[in-house]
Formats: sequence, structure tokens, C-alpha cells
Amino acid sequence: VYNQIYQVALPIPPVKQPKQIVTNPVTGNDIWYFEVEIKSFQQQVYQNKLPAQLVGYDGISPGPSFVIPKGTETVVRFMNNAAIENSVHLHGSPSRAPFDGWAEDVTLPGQYKDYYYPNFQSARLLWYHDHAMHFTAENAYFGQAGAYILTDPAEDSLGLPSGYGTFDIPLILSSKIYNQDGTLQSTVGEDTSLWGDIIHVNGQPWPFLNVQPRKYRFRFLNAAVSRNFALYFAKSTAQNTKLPFQVIASDAGLLESPVQTSTLLVASAERYEIVFDFSSYAGQTVDLRNLPKVNDIGVDDDYLNTDKVMRFTVSNTPVVDNSVVPQSLRTVPFPTASTGIDHHFRFHRTNGEWRINDIGFADVANRVLAKVPRGKIEIWELENSSGGWTHPIHVHLVDFKVLQRSGRGVEPYEAVGLKDVVWLGKGETVLVEAHYAPWDGVYMFHCHNLIHEDQDMMAAFNVTTLES
Ligand code: C2O
Ligand code: CU
Repeated sequence: VYNQIYQVALPIPPVKQPKQIVTNPVTGNDIWYFEVEIKSFQQQVYQNKLPAQLVGYDGISPGPSFVIPKGTETVVRFMNNAAIENSVHLHGSPSRAPFDGWAEDVTLPGQYKDYYYPNFQSARLLWYHDHAMHFTAENAYFGQAGAYILTDPAEDSLGLPSGYGTFDIPLILSSKIYNQDGTLQSTVGEDTSLWGDIIHVNGQPWPFLNVQPRKYRFRFLNAAVSRNFALYFAKSTAQNTKLPFQVIASDAGLLESPVQTSTLLVASAERYEIVFDFSSYAGQTVDLRNLPKVNDIGVDDDYLNTDKVMRFTVSNTPVVDNSVVPQSLRTVPFPTASTGIDHHFRFHRTNGEWRINDIGFADVANRVLAKVPRGKIEIWELENSSGGWTHPIHVHLVDFKVLQRSGRGVEPYEAVGLKDVVWLGKGETVLVEAHYAPWDGVYMFHCHNLIHEDQDMMAAFNVTTLES
């Protein structure tokens, strides 16, 4: 049993500093050059047990946060100084295919690879994580994941709570299982899911954060291997009363306008950003909690403390808060023009194997399931036909609009933004629409329950200008 709940301060990942800045002679943009070392480190999670042996970017987990202004290009050299192969994916970036973390494009121990990222997208929270064939779950779970924040002047001018690590704080969620001796239990051998009984925020089980009685921007990233969250806030003294907050952004950045809610579903790999106002709770404590069984949409196993996430201790000292949440945040570039369903993908389990349209990623000859003319807008139908299981589905390269979901419908905060992951709850079918651009290339799409992904619930699509 972990006995330091709400007793250790929330760690904030440091901001990664460039090693060199040069000018791209073709685009005229600055290129920030970074070096990241993938290496092992120890984390003392239980006071009187062994430390956990982890592997992380720069030897920390989460890895350092990249904070990059839109229009600045980046080159990141990832040096593999660990004992296992890796491939780095910048999740949410329309990277050229050679820099997209293709599962088989692995970097061996002792090697490095330079990744180029264009960063022309609007402000958003992306994340970088391992994507190595059949080792993605193990590598991400043991530490290879971090935040990558794009900023832009339009967002900066809105007056939202700001300042990385002060009033704009990443909350990177994960869920793990430890062995009796304090070391981390492996994901290897899991074939359906690893829900985990120990909830971490920024790598620390059930931390606390001291806050001022004012507005904060929190950037949620669900980096758990399998677990999905249904988050809500409550005063510690009134755990059943859900407090309101505003959702301002999702996977692809700002929503059109804020959505007020009191419960937020965050499936594996999804990002949601919120503004929470602590001004009414001065001198009190507010808890971030997790609904059991995710409202019956999910199937995640619940354990003793998986209904808890972290605690905020609100100071009693009044402060001036000039931040605002404008009623209009931005004009979201929703794709329009597709007329019908272009592709249908069925996510299922057959003969004990996770599959998409009966294909697994290891089936090299058959795994390219769609050929998409570059520049086309398409609607894909994603069907969960795996009975009681649920799957958060991620499509590389594009941002999509969630058009329709059978059953519970499209959540209000899904509808007014663009996404790159959509959660297929039990028995749900979802329609997503995207503009397949700007590059040609073969890209992956898959279930982001990393246990399912490693069990080959992954396929590819080919964006191309060539005639067949
Ligand atoms: Cu977040 Cu294909 O991955
Ligand atoms: Cu899945």
C-alpha cells in the first residue's frame, strides 16, 4: 500500500533548452537544435523499498517539456544510451514520414537519430513518446514520454492564465503497478490491458500542489498505458459535489469557445486543457478525482485509490488575477466537403488477437488498409466490434473532427475542437473527418491502449499523389 497520498509535491518537468540556434536557409525560420539522451535512472517511489529502475528522456520521467513558438523549426537528436531499441513519435505533429516514429524504424542502443519537426501548427499540447515495434507499452510505461507545447501569438493575446509551471501547468497522468520490492512491474506478458493501481501525475503518485486563490490553466495529457480517466474536482470536505470548470482546448489546441463541465473524459493519449478557478476555495483543499468504471463507457479495473488523482491546497492570501477566459477562443479550421464514408475500420479481437479489419501490423503485405489521395477530405467510420472492450483510436498526420458517435453521442468538448485521438467506448461507432495533407507518406493508425497496439492493433494508410 502506498502511504504518502497527497504528501509529495507535484513535480514540474523542466523546460528543454536548445543546444544551438541556426537559420534554415530555405524557409528563413530559426531552427532550434536539441539533444536528448535516452538513459536509465532510478526513482524511489516507496520509502522503505527498492527504487524503481526506469528509462527516460534525459533520465527523467516525464521527459523535459519542449516549449516551442509556432514557426520555429526543431531538430532533436535522440541518443539511445539505454539497453533497448527505440523510435520517437511526436504525437500530434504532421511530421514527414521519416521523422514520424514508424514502429520498425528503430534506433539501437548506442545509436542516435535526428528528428526534424516543422512546428507550423497553431498552439497546442503535443507529446513525444516511444513507438518501437512491440516495445511501445514497455518503453512508454518505464518512462519514455514527455510534453511538447507549441505556442502562438494569437493564443498568447487572449489573456488566459499563463506562465509554464506557474499558472499554466502540465498534468501528465499515468497508472502503474509495482512489485512487492518497490520495483516497477513490467507490461510484458499483458495481453489485454494494464490498468494499474497507482495513479501518477508528472511521475509522482497522488501528489499535491499549493495554489493561489485564482485561475489556473491545466494541460491534461493521459500518458497511461491503458487507463482512461473521468476527471472531476471536489472539495476534500464534500467529495460528492462536482465543481464546475471550463474546457478550453483539446488535442489540436483551442476550442472555438470554452465548454463548461464538471466531468471530463480523458482516454489514453488524449489531451484536454482546462481553466479551474480556485478563488472560491481560499483556505480549503480541492481534490482532483476519477470516477470509477468511467461512467460505464470504459472497462478499466478499479483499485483501492484509483478514484483519487491529486490534491490542491489553496492559500488564504488574496491575489490579483487579471487572467480571463474569453467567450470566443479561435476559429477552428474544421474540414468540410466530404460527402460520404470513405473507409470503414473495425476494431476487434479474433482468436485472441487484436485486429483492425482482420489485419495485424505484423502482416506486412496487407497492413496498408487505405490509400488516400493527398489533399483529400475523407470521413472514416471507426467501429468498436470487440464486445465489452474499449479503444482510444489515434490517426497519425491529421487532425480530425468527431462528427458522430453512436450511443452517448459526441461529448460537448469534443464537438467544438479538432482531435487526433477518439475514444470508442463499449459498442460505439464513430465518424471522423480529416484533411489528408500536407505530405505524401505511409502513416500509422492504431489503438492507443499501448498493450493493444503492441499486440498489433495497428495498421497503415498511404497518402499519395500517384495514380494506382
Ligand atoms: Cu501517441 Cu502512434 O501514437
Ligand atoms: Cu484497443
